[in-house]
Amino acid sequence: MTDPISAAWNSLEGLQHRTLVDLFENDAARVEKLSHRIDSSLGELGSVGMLVDFSKTHLDDAALDAFEELAKACDFDGQREALFTGGIVNPTEGRSASHAALRGTGPEAEVEEAAALVDRMEILVKAIHEGVFGEIKHLIHIGIGGSALGPALAVDALTRDLALVECHIVSNIDGLALEQAFAKCDPQSTMIAVASKTFTTTETMTNAASALKWLQENGVDDPGGRVIALTANPERAVEWGVDETRILPFPESVGGRYSLWSSIGFPIALGAGMEDFRAMLAGAKVIDEHFRENSGRSNLPLLAAFADQYYTRLRGCQTRAVFAYDERLTLFPDYLQQLEMESNGKRVMYSGEDVPAPTAPVTWGGVGTDAQHAVFQLLHQGTVLIPVDFIASIAPGDMLDPAHHKALLMNCLAQGAALMAGKSSEDPSRFYPGDRPSTMFLVDDIDAATLGALIAFHEHRTFANAVLMQVNPFDQFGVELGKGIAKQLDAGEGVFDASTTALMEAAGL
Ligand code: F6P
Repeated sequence: MTDPISAAWNSLEGLQHRTLVDLFENDAARVEKLSHRIDSSLGELGSVGMLVDFSKTHLDDAALDAFEELAKACDFDGQREALFTGGIVNPTEGRSASHAALRGTGPEAEVEEAAALVDRMEILVKAIHEGVFGEIKHLIHIGIGGSALGPALAVDALTRDLALVECHIVSNIDGLALEQAFAKCDPQSTMIAVASKTFTTTETMTNAASALKWLQENGVDDPGGRVIALTANPERAVEWGVDETRILPFPESVGGRYSLWSSIGFPIALGAGMEDFRAMLAGAKVIDEHFRENSGRSNLPLLAAFADQYYTRLRGCQTRAVFAYDERLTLFPDYLQQLEMESNGKRVMYSGEDVPAPTAPVTWGGVGTDAQHAVFQLLHQGTVLIPVDFIASIAPGDMLDPAHHKALLMNCLAQGAALMAGKSSEDPSRFYPGDRPSTMFLVDDIDAATLGALIAFHEHRTFANAVLMQVNPFDQFGVELGKGIAKQLDAGEGVFDASTTALMEAAGL
């Protein structure tokens, strides 16, 4: 007998694939059915206004019915409830995933603890802004992966007009990265944040030691007093020499790539202001509530996951591209890469058995309109099918002639239309096959609340994809092997293949 999950996939695999043009021609209500808004007013913290249009994907009523059956077979509702109620959704590490609790949705005790930690962060942020540590103009935030990508995205998006403190995010162990940050900062007016969930990551601890040395060598009184630790391992931070009053902890159950809502978001609060940090949390909470309260195709992150699974599993797409038509979201594709590829780049299911199909596609992307002049050729006329997400804001980020923003939006919409419609021509080189899918995220503005909502949307989309594939999105054992080998090479231990040995010699190591 076929199990319910395989049966649901079997019926999905049996679906007839129709062209986008055909889907539009045969369903006058297509836009109404597949284009949805999420709106919420957050009072002083702003508002969330987001339109998500899936009508240019190949999802139709039959596919949506079949995906809803799949979600049922995978106990999507049960898994989602476990996510929000502190259940063990990370079985390989025996942990819950409490990022939603940081935004106010989850078990009461966790929500209260998170709110208290934000208040504690606010006290430190206020003290720095008020000059308790002297005049502080710069923060060098040292962290990598999830301890860097979220803060980097948010600081870049929210402090372009005005930064209360200039925040420089340094992640790479390549000393050039830290040197470049030093070059922009005056040591006398700089604080250092060491951001590491584990407080053991080689890159971060090496950079932190060099940054401390830089303060010492440049005559800063009490350089240690300028260091703040953002970590789930406060004991380790104390051992390293950070005073407890300057340690901002967060719970172990917050995953690294889901941690910008915790004290890892400190540079957002310091650079953009505490109000923006709270607005991001509130914007994310709007999506948490939407995700928790809506079922099937009415649940937009789940609907996005239906489209993702359609392309990856049913159409064999190995990549998904995201183009933000907004300079403020330049780092959004980088952020999404870690979120999606580290979460769902897996090969086994919860059961330990192999996933019988491809899992996460490669996430990549860029900024419009720049990307149009670089990579869109392949999207329009290349031989592989690449589902595309577009993100654009109705309100402009600039104060120049409105013609700029109008052209930006027009270009974004034109690309979606062109990918779908294609163009016939007698000349094969000028022929566009069309029928190429895209999803549009049209937000009212890129402010803190909307950014929070956009990020949370993608977190839940990632989770929904994981449930449909039956993989654990909250572990990342795949990154350990290389780290271990680097340590062995450094210690001169172990016997390696002939190529690696020869390369070590060639590099003078
Ligand atoms: O190498 C992967 C990883 O574990 C990420 O998941 C994490 O965000 C990053 O390293 C940094 O880890 P930490 O915050 O513990 O320094």
